[in-house]
Amino acid sequence: MKRPLPHPQSSAARPKPGARQADDEHDADAAATRPSRRGPNRPPLKRLTTTLWEYPSQHFDSWIDDEGNVVHASARMQGDKDYAGATPSWVVWQLLTRYTRKGDLIVDPMCGSGTTIDTARELERKALGYDLAASRPDIFRADARKLPVEDAKADFVFIDPPYSTHIDYSDDPACIGKLDTAPDADDGGKAYYQAMRKVIAESHRILKPRRYMALYVSDSWRKRRGEPGGGGGVFMPIGFELFSIMRERFRPIDIIAVVRQNAKLGKSNWAKSAAEGNFFLRGFNYLFIMKKES
Ligand SMILES: C[S@@+](CC[C@H](N)C(=O)[O-])C[C@H]1O[C@@H](n2cnc3c(N)ncnc32)[C@H](O)[C@@H]1O
Repeated sequence: MKRPLPHPQSSAARPKPGARQADDEHDADAAATRPSRRGPNRPPLKRLTTTLWEYPSQHFDSWIDDEGNVVHASARMQGDKDYAGATPSWVVWQLLTRYTRKGDLIVDPMCGSGTTIDTARELERKALGYDLAASRPDIFRADARKLPVEDAKADFVFIDPPYSTHIDYSDDPACIGKLDTAPDADDGGKAYYQAMRKVIAESHRILKPRRYMALYVSDSWRKRRGEPGGGGGVFMPIGFELFSIMRERFRPIDIIAVVRQNAKLGKSNWAKSAAEGNFFLRGFNYLFIMKKES
C-alpha cells in the first residue's frame, strides 16, 4: 500500500497517516528527512569498513558478493520509496551481510513499508515484519512491546522506531510516534522512553543469545512553540537516551554515523534558518549495534 508523500511545508492540516509532519521551516528534523530515495548513481553495494556510512541512494540494485561477483537484486526498491520515514535499505544490507547468514531469521518489530523483510529476502534470509499499521499483507499487525514471537527465536533484530512526533504514522493510539520526547512536553518525554524500553526488552527476549540487533535513530530539534520571535529551540538527544536504555540489556558493539543525504538539507531557506536561528539541521542518524550476551 502506497502512502502519500507529504508536502514538507504543510503545517495547517494534520498530515494523513504515514505522512511527514513538518511543524515549520525551523523544524530541524523536518528539514533533514531520510536519505534521498532515488539517487542518480547506484553503485553495487560492498561492505563498508569505517564507522561513517554513506551511499547515494535510499535503495540498491546490486551488490558485490564474497567472491567478487556482482549480484543483481530482484527488485529496484526494498520497502516503499513513498513511505515517509522508510529506512535506507542499504543500511539493512550492511547489517545483514555482516551479522547474519543465509537461512537466518530476521525480525523487524516496527517494519513500516517492509524495507527489512525485502532486504532480508534478497539475501536469502527468512524475515518476519510487524507493525501497528501493517502496510502490506506480509507484515503482521502487532505492538512491538508484545510480539507474537517465541523467546530466543530471532537471529537478528532491526528496529527503526519513530523519533518523537515528527511523522504521523497511523491513527492507532498505541503508536509510539504519538509520544513527544521534548523536555518541555507534558511528561518531559517520559512516556516515549518508557515505551521504547519495552520495545528494547521485547527485542532482547526474542533474540537468540550471542546474536546481534541494531537500532537506527536520530536526535531531534525543534523550535520552541508559542513564544513570540521563536524563543529558541529544544534539543532532544533521543539517540543517547536510547543507547543508555539498550545498554541495560545488551553489550554495545559499535556506533555508526549514517550520513543523511537529502536535497532539503542544502536548501537555502533551511540553511539560512539554521544559521540565523543558531541551530543545526540533522546531518546523520545513529546506528547502534548491540549483542545479546546470554
Ligand atoms: C520509522 S518507521 C519504520 C520504517 C521502516 N523500517 C521502513 O523502512 O519502512 C516506524 C514505524 O513504527 C511503527 N510503530 C509505531 N509504534 C509502534 C508500536 N507500538 N508497535 C509496532 N509498530 C509501531 C509505525 O507504524 C512506523 O511504521
